[in-house]
Amino acid sequence: MTIRMDLVSVRLGDVNVLQDVSLELDVRTVAVIGENGSGKSTFARLLGGLVKRASGAVSVLGVDPEKQAAELRRRAAVVFSNPDAQIIMPTVAEDVAFSLRAGRLRPSARDERVKAAFTRFGLSDLAGRASHDLSGGQKQLLALCGAFVRRPELVIADEPTASLDARNARRVADHLFEDTVHRLVMVTHNLALAQRCDVAMLFSEGRAVALGEPVRVVSEYEALLRC
Ligand SMILES: Nc1ncnc2c1ncn2[C@@H]1O[C@H](COP(=O)(O)OP(=O)(O)OP(=O)(O)O)[C@@H](O)[C@H]1O
Ligand SMILES: [Mg+2]
Repeated sequence: MTIRMDLVSVRLGDVNVLQDVSLELDVRTVAVIGENGSGKSTFARLLGGLVKRASGAVSVLGVDPEKQAAELRRRAAVVFSNPDAQIIMPTVAEDVAFSLRAGRLRPSARDERVKAAFTRFGLSDLAGRASHDLSGGQKQLLALCGAFVRRPELVIADEPTASLDARNARRVADHLFEDTVHRLVMVTHNLALAQRCDVAMLFSEGRAVALGEPVRVVSEYEALLRC
């Protein structure tokens, strides 16, 4: 089982952000949809071990993200909706290479891997640039590149195409769906993209209110938006 939750609740400050979330997911790609403030990013952060639960049990790739955080970090990558938080190294090339520091690759293999990822994410021409001077969309591409270059088993991506132009959004989406190495949990407001996933889940006011066939879950969401 890739992801399992049993009656999970998360409280941040004095807000009950997630309430009684129970689910079992064993598919390759999952879309997470719902209105602003419904709890999607908190759910993504919970999967990545970045938020603590108040109650309940969570298992991701067979590990508890809170208690076995180091193992999860090795096997899964989280891409936040705010890529600034993820940029660590001064240049684009160094930042992507830094993602591979724990991989014990030979330098030539590491360079090959970085080069292929640059090509894939359209970053080759920016390799020598200062990371913090990139545009918003370029930073998002850099964060995605850093996540995928490690070839994780699971990618948890929070609105990965939100600030990308149409060509880059297509390029990233194709990578998310065509590369079958990783599993994917993707938070998105792009309902066409959500429908390319195997399964969609809908959050509303901190609760998982629908899970299943994306076309059906998207139409439930559209009905909710009309209320
Ligand atoms: N640190 C925090 N302290 C208090 N409340 C928080 C905190 N972080 C998030 N929240 C609240 O939790 C709720 C869910 O937030 P979350 O970021 O998970 O929503 P979201 O579904 O990702 O929304 P969006 O589509 O706007 O990104 C919101 O009401 C938000 O204000
Ligand atoms: Mg969010």
